[in-house]
Amino acid sequence: MTPTVLITGAGRGIGLELVRQYHARGARVLAVHRPGLVVPDALLALQEAHPESMRLIPLDVRAASVVVNLAARLSERIDILVNTTGMLMGTGYAPAGNMVGGGLRATLQVNATGPLFVAQAALSNMTRGGKIATILPIGDVRSLDLLDPDARQAVKAAVVKVMQSLASDIKPSGVAVALIHPGAIDPAPGGEAPLSLGDSAAGIIGVIDALTLETSGRFFGYDGALADG
Ligand SMILES: NC(=O)c1ccc[n+]([C@@H]2O[C@H](COP(=O)([O-])OP(=O)(O)OC[C@H]3O[C@@H](n4cnc5c(N)ncnc54)[C@H](OP(=O)(O)O)[C@@H]3O)[C@@H](O)[C@H]2O)c1
Repeated sequence: MTPTVLITGAGRGIGLELVRQYHARGARVLAVHRPGLVVPDALLALQEAHPESMRLIPLDVRAASVVVNLAARLSERIDILVNTTGMLMGTGYAPAGNMVGGGLRATLQVNATGPLFVAQAALSNMTRGGKIATILPIGDVRSLDLLDPDARQAVKAAVVKVMQSLASDIKPSGVAVALIHPGAIDPAPGGEAPLSLGDSAAGIIGVIDALTLETSGRFFGYDGALADG
């Protein structure tokens, strides 16, 4: 049976690489990208080459209407959802009190509530055995430090707790949830050589393959290591 995989953040980065790799494995792919006048070239080229097995869905995950809007556009059964949307509120230390123009709210919407709403929409088309994975923004969850005043810790805490709560809610319906750290793909200043996008995405797919209801709600490294102790 051909699995159907719904991937958000599909226009570039990890999301686009997941689109490529899931499609190469024979999956049917529903690729969610941010709406705009221009569809990202690489995504459009893939879809045009494989119109029968790939569909593009423009959607801004911050919109309050995401659940209704996306659910109405899904007619097929969804086997796997991977949330990769991400938005960082700048680099370096980001104190919440300094955030103007709704930066904190937008970041929470893209990284935490958006993925939850997309999951709620997908759930209407998921059956037992379905899987939902969310890529963790901003580093490894082990670096979650409640004493650190950097507001990005709030975003990380939000996505972890939102997805763990979802995992608990939907366990009885047989759908498993994972949080996955993709590894350091972008070179950190003075840091180690970055991981390739291909290796990160391949690792993420392996983690999702191995996910079960027993491990639902936990967080993993892209290499499959449990990252929550
Ligand atoms: N790359 C790394 O080294 C690394 C390390 C740790 C964690 N992460 C996390 O992993 C996730 C994916 O990383 P990445 O490197 O692939 O990020 P990326 O290249 O910045 O891609 C982010 C994706 O999210 C989409 N997006 C942003 N706002 C959106 C919205 N409102 N509605 C719909 N889509 C939206 C973007 O669309 P547009 O193209 O339209 O902007 C883009 O496709 C992020 O959460 C990131 O923080 C990455």
